[in-house]
Amino acid sequence: MDDAPVDLRSDTVTLPSPQMRAAMAAAEVGDDAYRGDPTVRKLEQRLSALAGFEAGLFMPSGTQSNLTALMTHCARGEEYLVGQDAHAYSHEAGGAAVLGSIQPQPIENAPDGTIPVAKLRAAIKPDDEHFAMTRLIALENTIGGKVLPQGYVDDVAKLAREHGLSMHLDGARVFNAAAFAARPIAELCAPFDSVSICLSKGLGAPVGSVLCGSVAFIERARRWRTMLGGGLRQAGVLAAAGLYALDHNVARLPLDHDNAKRLAQGLAALGALKVTMPQTNIFFVEIPPADVEPLKRHLRACNIVATVSAVTRLVTHLDIDEAKVDRVLMAFEAFYHKAYAKAQ
Ligand SMILES: Cc1ncc(COP(=O)(O)O)c(C=O)c1O
Repeated sequence: MDDAPVDLRSDTVTLPSPQMRAAMAAAEVGDDAYRGDPTVRKLEQRLSALAGFEAGLFMPSGTQSNLTALMTHCARGEEYLVGQDAHAYSHEAGGAAVLGSIQPQPIENAPDGTIPVAKLRAAIKPDDEHFAMTRLIALENTIGGKVLPQGYVDDVAKLAREHGLSMHLDGARVFNAAAFAARPIAELCAPFDSVSICLSKGLGAPVGSVLCGSVAFIERARRWRTMLGGGLRQAGVLAAAGLYALDHNVARLPLDHDNAKRLAQGLAALGALKVTMPQTNIFFVEIPPADVEPLKRHLRACNIVATVSAVTRLVTHLDIDEAKVDRVLMAFEAFYHKAYAKAQ
């Protein structure tokens, strides 16, 4: 049996395939800071058109892409409304506040990942000199593996329009959301003024995101990207991986969702764990506190890499096939049967 590591921590751990590496090696390149890299241009045009936008900007990371978007939408002293669980609030090292002088207004997410519209409405500040000026609503799709209902997104967009606010989507995994919803990504992105899409998650590229928006928005974003150190030179080597990912790794995303479901159902069947059934490739398992440390050791011994804690996030991706899912299930079964036998 294949005993290569099974890494369930994130879909960011995927390794570029030999074919993707070959596409990178063959890329036609130029200096992208002089707008002279044809492969970067091709990726920006292709992905922004797919998402329904006029223009795109290649970014080294999703974090820089979100920050660039926030800085393009909001000036110093202005504010964005964002979910407490959103990556662009909770996992980007406070960049908006530190580097952008932008005030985050975090709001608790509902269990389905939405931010209730009434809470968003209540958080919009009146035009008063004592308050930061609310400028933007930022959503994330998928969020914690969950897909935002499109009717909800439309309601938020209506609220934003009523108050003259812009809308940004952290669409790091918008292709997963589109696969689940069986809709083109352009439909999911339509209510937004800007969308950041990652190539380095489930799509399997080693780096890269594309920020999409209008021509005017992207022109302004270029200056912030330069300031943030994101002006790359022969970046076509990286963009080629993104183009390869669009050609080869989008259509297969439902396989990751099926594998997540298979894994979740198998874990739920053990009876000892509370499992949230996945919509896409990310789901959560509640581990009894006493099991956390021994389970960590057991999985390590089985060459299974996971961030085990009381609420463990498990992620399927390009480098996890059905056989690997079965190996993980066997490891969990062995652990819980042994624990059960010991308790008798
Ligand atoms: C939802 C979401 N947005 C943004 C990012 C940031 O992407 P990067 O790691 O490329 O900075 C991540 C990273 O995992 C993410 O999960």
